[in-house]
Amino acid sequence: MAIALGSDHAGYALKQALRRWLDAQSIEYTDFGCFEESPSVDYADFSFRVASAVSSGVCSRGVVICGTGIGAMITANKVGNIRAALCCSDYMAEMARRHNDANIIAFGGRTTTPELAVSMLRIFLDTPFEGGRHFGRVEKIHHLTGR
Ligand code: RB5
Repeated sequence: MAIALGSDHAGYALKQALRRWLDAQSIEYTDFGCFEESPSVDYADFSFRVASAVSSGVCSRGVVICGTGIGAMITANKVGNIRAALCCSDYMAEMARRHNDANIIAFGGRTTTPELAVSMLRIFLDTPFEGGRHFGRVEKIHHLTGR
């Protein structure tokens, strides 16, 4: 199943770098935009498209990118069944999967090098959820919030 990608203008260049890496790995993806660096666009539009695709099961995991990754992550986490994690290190990417069962990773296009983003994405895609005591904690998020 494809990976969903989305960014605003500030994340466009990093999204292109991730597309090149996904192409090289023959990993299928769907790019929900934006499709050019200019003009300036709103991160919520693209993050919502990615989150909706993951929430509905059309895509297995998602990547959302804006300048800092913050707006993109906030938007994605408003959508049902989404656990979006803003990551800035390999360790965070690993823990987002192992402990939080994150299904979307958020990056800051203005704060993250392409090399680090590729490394974090590889870990995000390869690392399983540990389950066990973390299963109930993740379930509780959805039980408490209703999303
Ligand atoms: C756009 O300038 C910037 O505000 C946006 O990409 C993002 O960083 C917001 O969280």
